Amino acid sequence: MPNEDTRMLKLAYQQMPYGIIILNQRNEIIFMNQMAEEIRGRSAQIIQGNNVLSCHPQKIKEVVARSLKALREEDPKNSNRMTIDKRNDKYYETNYIPIKNNNGSYLGSMLISKDITEQRKLEEKRLSHLKHFKEEADRLRAELQELFFSSLDSLIKTLEAKDKYTEGHSTRVADISRKIAQYSCDVSPQIDTIELASQFHDIGKVGIPESILNKPGKLNEEEFSYIKEHPILGEDILAPILKPKSIKPKPMKKVIRHHHERYDGRGYPDGLKEDEIPIGARILAIADSYDAMTTDRPYRNALTPRTALKEINSNLGTQFDPELGEVFLMLHDKGVIN
Ligand SMILES: [Fe+2]
Repeated sequence: MPNEDTRMLKLAYQQMPYGIIILNQRNEIIFMNQMAEEIRGRSAQIIQGNNVLSCHPQKIKEVVARSLKALREEDPKNSNRMTIDKRNDKYYETNYIPIKNNNGSYLGSMLISKDITEQRKLEEKRLSHLKHFKEEADRLRAELQELFFSSLDSLIKTLEAKDKYTEGHSTRVADISRKIAQYSCDVSPQIDTIELASQFHDIGKVGIPESILNKPGKLNEEEFSYIKEHPILGEDILAPILKPKSIKPKPMKKVIRHHHERYDGRGYPDGLKEDEIPIGARILAIADSYDAMTTDRPYRNALTPRTALKEINSNLGTQFDPELGEVFLMLHDKGVIN
């Protein structure tokens, strides 16, 4: 190549808006353009001829050594390497490109560095906006959820006001369920879910006529068919539930749907048995029955705790899960539940 052309080529490299460093086979710097001098903060005159690894601190030296080794040893098509580093508050992306002769033998390499600070800042801005939107969405979701639960709470209070016998029932049942769950479940979201489901387990009764809810005598078949609808109605009422941090909406709805299933499969609405019934619903069934037995009802006076415990004990394995029933009896015995 005529001298004039070589000079021209060198000038073009010199003036490129990218940092360019060319290394020989021994990784010695044989060329460094102005932009590379600016990026590296070194003068080409001083470091030309030095091994490129000696110009880096230990941590970066290892990255550069790995990249150069890959250029030398790997398939040329896949041997380009890209690293990102930060100098003087700016980000640079450096591409390592192998220089090979026509036979494919390695002659050296070219390091091309590009200032990507703007791109990086835009990306950081985008991520920070995204984080902000996500936080805002979470906040609104939590607010909505709270609103939803406080409406349900009012609904439960209305329901309990309609039926003077069940005043405070939901809160007491939720308390008992939580205590059984704490002994029987490993994870706190599951315990929270069971407690909340217990709080709202009879929400579906808002759809049952007051005359049936407060009927003093035995219910006829048609009236009982209304009662049997309340777990399904409860599940439907909770349909719009969102997902707050510690509550799982789907399991919560299932606990409500199945709280009148029996361990032997003779319950309602789906006739599930044993482990087919969600554990929360098996727990709730015990808590609900105990509280119902120990409070006055339109058709009978409250049983004593002793009689209610006996009743639960004699229905283990038929109406109630025997293991969970034992947990309940043990907790009662210890005074944790009263
Ligand atoms: Fe119920």
